[in-house]
Amino acid sequence: MSIYNGKLIVVEGLDGAGKTSAAKQILKILRYYGIVNVNIVRDPGGTPLSEMLRLLITGKFNYNIDEPTNYAELFMLYAARVQLIEKFIKPKLKKNYWIISDRYYLSSYAYQSGGRCINDQILKFLDNMILHGVYPDLTIFLDVLPKTGLNRVKNNNTKLDRIENESLTFFYRVYNYYKKLVKFNKDIICINANQSLSIVNKEINYYISKWLMKIM
Ligand SMILES: Nc1ncnc2c1ncn2[C@@H]1O[C@H](COP(=O)(O)OP(=O)(O)OP(=O)(O)O)[C@@H](O)[C@H]1O
Ligand SMILES: [Mg+2]
Repeated sequence: MSIYNGKLIVVEGLDGAGKTSAAKQILKILRYYGIVNVNIVRDPGGTPLSEMLRLLITGKFNYNIDEPTNYAELFMLYAARVQLIEKFIKPKLKKNYWIISDRYYLSSYAYQSGGRCINDQILKFLDNMILHGVYPDLTIFLDVLPKTGLNRVKNNNTKLDRIENESLTFFYRVYNYYKKLVKFNKDIICINANQSLSIVNKEINYYISKWLMKIM
């Protein structure tokens, strides 16, 4: 629960789960209910520095750089996230804005702890240092099978980024960690994202409406 006036809605899931599509759908339904001060952001990203770090993390930076180690990747992600929180999310929430974030801290548990096998106690320590009460008011997990998600990404892009190029076993570790998070956190809304986009959108509308009725 965030301590500010605005609300923070987070969309989580594997690559190709439909997070970006879902963020746009959530924006639409919020507008339908008259909530117009809404921003969509992505993590990593959302500020010039964080977007620059995103390029480094995804290997899209235009220089030949050396492959980041797992810890270098982790710290770049946290640097991008703390910048996003302090420079964008907190000031916006204070001004009553609603924010829809395409990924947030749980992505690090799934990818860095699940995928890269980094001890999750390190992530908890870093979260204590940087989140400062800026927890999501609502988290939606789009549950897509790794192969289905990756096929969507491949059909969508000609060139895969550094993370998308990881092995299927990597994505299964990420997926299993997400499933564990959902299992132990009943507040996370889990939507079967293997279904068609129109069904997923209907479920998003349903859950967002239900949540709005509860909090408004
Ligand atoms: N439920 C769905 N069924 C079929 N195709 C979908 C579905 N959801 C999204 N797509 C399509 O799959 C592609 C990836 O969707 P989207 O960009 O929303 O996913 P994402 O989770 O944001 O992916 P990424 O991790 O690459 O950012 C897009 O072409 C989108 O139109
Ligand atoms: Mg996306």
